[in-house]
Amino acid sequence: MGVLDDETAAALLAQAESAAERAYVPYSHFPVGAAALAPDGSVYTGANIENASYPLTCCAERVAIFQAVMAGQSAIVAIAVWAEKSRGVTPCGACRQVLNEWGSESGDMVVVLEGRDGPDLLALSDLLPRAFGPRDLDEASRNS
Ligand code: THU
Repeated sequence: MGVLDDETAAALLAQAESAAERAYVPYSHFPVGAAALAPDGSVYTGANIENASYPLTCCAERVAIFQAVMAGQSAIVAIAVWAEKSRGVTPCGACRQVLNEWGSESGDMVVVLEGRDGPDLLALSDLLPRAFGPRDLDEASRNS
């Protein structure tokens, strides 16, 4: 996938794996790590953080994205996701929607998963086709 060479993808996946060490998962015992790459090359990591009130859990992907946003980034070019207990895990539906908010103008966000022989690169638009996003709201305001 154009914007991401194999070496960068492998490094991002390794950062997602390290981030999983910070997972707070006393309920699911299912640690997940994520690493988000910004256009300037900065990387922001996240791990899933659960809660005794289960639905308040925040997935690793969202923690990584929100760290990037709080650091001043306004787009993410790629995000790697890693789960020890489910190799090749893909982002949940809610996270796909959040990822869709932070794509860059220059192209589709790349989602890096652990494949059989190294990183597996997917386009977010394949994981969330015909997504609802910021542009829909722009269009709605133009039409009102
Ligand atoms: N989880 C993630 O952090 N990311 C995913 O892509 C899938 C699910 C977390 C949420 C919860 O803490 C645990 O994995 C089990 O669902």
